[in-house]
Amino acid sequence: MALTTTLEMLLDAQKRGYAVGAFNVENMEMAQAVIRAAEKKDAPVVIQTTPGTLKYAEPAVFYGIVQALAKKVKAPVALHLDHGDSYELAARCLMAGYTSVMIDGSRLQLQDNIALSARVAALAALNGVPVEAELGKVGGKEDTLADQGDEYTNPADAAAFVKASGVQSLAVAIGTAHGVYKTKPVLDVKRLHAIREVVEIPLVLHGASGLSEEQVVSCVKEGICKVNFATELRIAYTKGVGEAMAQKPIDPKAYGKAGRERVQALVEKWMDVCGATGRA
Ligand code: 13P
Ligand code: ZN
Repeated sequence: MALTTTLEMLLDAQKRGYAVGAFNVENMEMAQAVIRAAEKKDAPVVIQTTPGTLKYAEPAVFYGIVQALAKKVKAPVALHLDHGDSYELAARCLMAGYTSVMIDGSRLQLQDNIALSARVAALAALNGVPVEAELGKVGGKEDTLADQGDEYTNPADAAAFVKASGVQSLAVAIGTAHGVYKTKPVLDVKRLHAIREVVEIPLVLHGASGLSEEQVVSCVKEGICKVNFATELRIAYTKGVGEAMAQKPIDPKAYGKAGRERVQALVEKWMDVCGATGRA
């Protein structure tokens, strides 16, 4: 089917108590892997690209790939800008046909984050596209954004932020971090519960690579409706390619296929854990 927005997708997840998996892709093979997994698992899915990935290939290229793949399957697919770092990049993605955008103003002071998020939400609304914002700082280094250290989301600020910015979903900081965890993360699920009590819109969990299945399930139980995975996909793809390369193929399709298979298996597993399987 045609690309869908994340609006109905996340509201359905919220209503029925599961989370949609959101997977970062960096090339055609990774996009194929995610969409094949969605079709096999009968699961709604978000495919997302970071600003760094959009320097590698422009939004129109990812839009072209993802919409061509999505229209052949029954599973709903949304194409999302992940950690958008400027109003201009959000606008470029909207013009290219993205059906969801994130504006990440978490590095800014609260009022500046509200102002930027509200501007992007107003622009996206003209296109009927929902916006995800972030409040608090998810640790680790994600793409072009420097490691900002941890600063957990304050529930009262979150309620005020959502009201003032008009965004449709909110990424929260409760102890996850981007990249590979050096020690097992401890998640502040009580804080998530407190945020859930005062914020009505769907909540988003970033930095899910390296979490245990139990940790993801407990966050979904407390109201997380979208879970972001990136690093594990990069590792799976690279491993698959590396192993195939060791066979010294002179066919790029051979190693692209190996990476793609690894990513698909991983995505299928996380769809099951998030409870997204069978929800398309
Ligand atoms: P990981 O790289 O830790 O999976 O984080 C993904 C993410 O939050 C993308 O926005
Ligand atoms: Zn993230």
